[in-house]
Amino acid sequence: MNLNMSTPTHIPVLLEETVKALAVQPGGRYIDCTLGSGGHAAAILEQGSPGGQLLGIDADPEAINIAGTRLEAYSGSTRLINENFVNLQAICLKYDFQPVYGILFDLGLSSLQLSEDSRGFSFQRDGPLDMRFNPGQEITAADIVNQSSEAELAHIIRTYGEEAYSRQIARRLVNERPITTTLELARTVERAVGGRKGSIHPATKTFQALRIAVNHELENLESALKQAISLLGFSGRLVVISYHSLEDRIVKQLMQRESRDCICPPGTPTCVCGHTACLRLVSKKIITPSPAEVELNPRSRSAKLRVAERVIFQDGYCDSAEGWHFLVGDEANGWRRPALLRRLRMTFSLS
Ligand SMILES: C[S@@+](CC[C@H](N)C(=O)[O-])C[C@H]1O[C@@H](n2cnc3c(N)ncnc32)[C@H](O)[C@@H]1O
Repeated sequence: MNLNMSTPTHIPVLLEETVKALAVQPGGRYIDCTLGSGGHAAAILEQGSPGGQLLGIDADPEAINIAGTRLEAYSGSTRLINENFVNLQAICLKYDFQPVYGILFDLGLSSLQLSEDSRGFSFQRDGPLDMRFNPGQEITAADIVNQSSEAELAHIIRTYGEEAYSRQIARRLVNERPITTTLELARTVERAVGGRKGSIHPATKTFQALRIAVNHELENLESALKQAISLLGFSGRLVVISYHSLEDRIVKQLMQRESRDCICPPGTPTCVCGHTACLRLVSKKIITPSPAEVELNPRSRSAKLRVAERVIFQDGYCDSAEGWHFLVGDEANGWRRPALLRRLRMTFSLS
């Protein structure tokens, strides 16, 4: 039996581009907030050798097990934590892992989670209506579908799925409750919208909406990105791979806002916001997979990679005393020193 054919694997998306965007260097300290099967983490550790360190986080305990096995060769330089990245700052504080050279978010779910029937993520496979990244979490997709009001369901499906038929779907779901399996949900949605129309399954957006709601994906992302900025050392990189427009909008807006020195509304005669840019957009263009990657791994087709670099320490997102200690302390030795000195000179001559 060929195990490679039958065992589902997760192919890391935009792998080379991610390592390049993170500007991984030997001896650097990196965080992978969405460890999954450890594909990106392995590449970061390889490029970061010798001396590189990685803190890997995943809400799914199964992902931590799989990545742990995969990264065994690097066990001395990795720490893998089964946690939600919404607690990023607290995790780094607990393990004394800051400031860091780079932080990666590769959002959404892995191919392993999607292909595991019992996780209930797929509308193509029958399983319990679950969708939790962390099976220890309380609320499942079945709880939301069976206990929310029709208006609440319509709101979730419209807001998180950008589904034009949200009201029809919500009404049908409420009429046909209880709905306890993925295929029951998929078929109910299909009937609500009058059957299949194109190549995309009519339940795609409803499944996305429920997964986002179950895991509080958008709120967690927004909070974690802000925490991530504060954990980056000077010229540290923030790299985010997103897979749908709601995620990408949050990443884009935060990176754009934090790379501007003034965020006053357009037309304000003089700046009153007092905002200071703490990021620089490394690439204004979004990085997307090549046609060859999409052919090899169709799941990569919607991926968008954005990258920004930390330029200055700012109150609110960063404990500046700690930040400046990092700049002038031992840790700064040999780390992009010319750029560091240039920035320090600029900062002091401007202030
Ligand atoms: C696309 S996969 C990452 C794949 C990984 N980059 C690799 O190369 O194998 C996304 C992972 O993020 C995890 N995840 C999603 N949201 C999370 C959160 N809020 N906190 C921690 N992990 C999360 C999921 O459980 C999943 O394992």
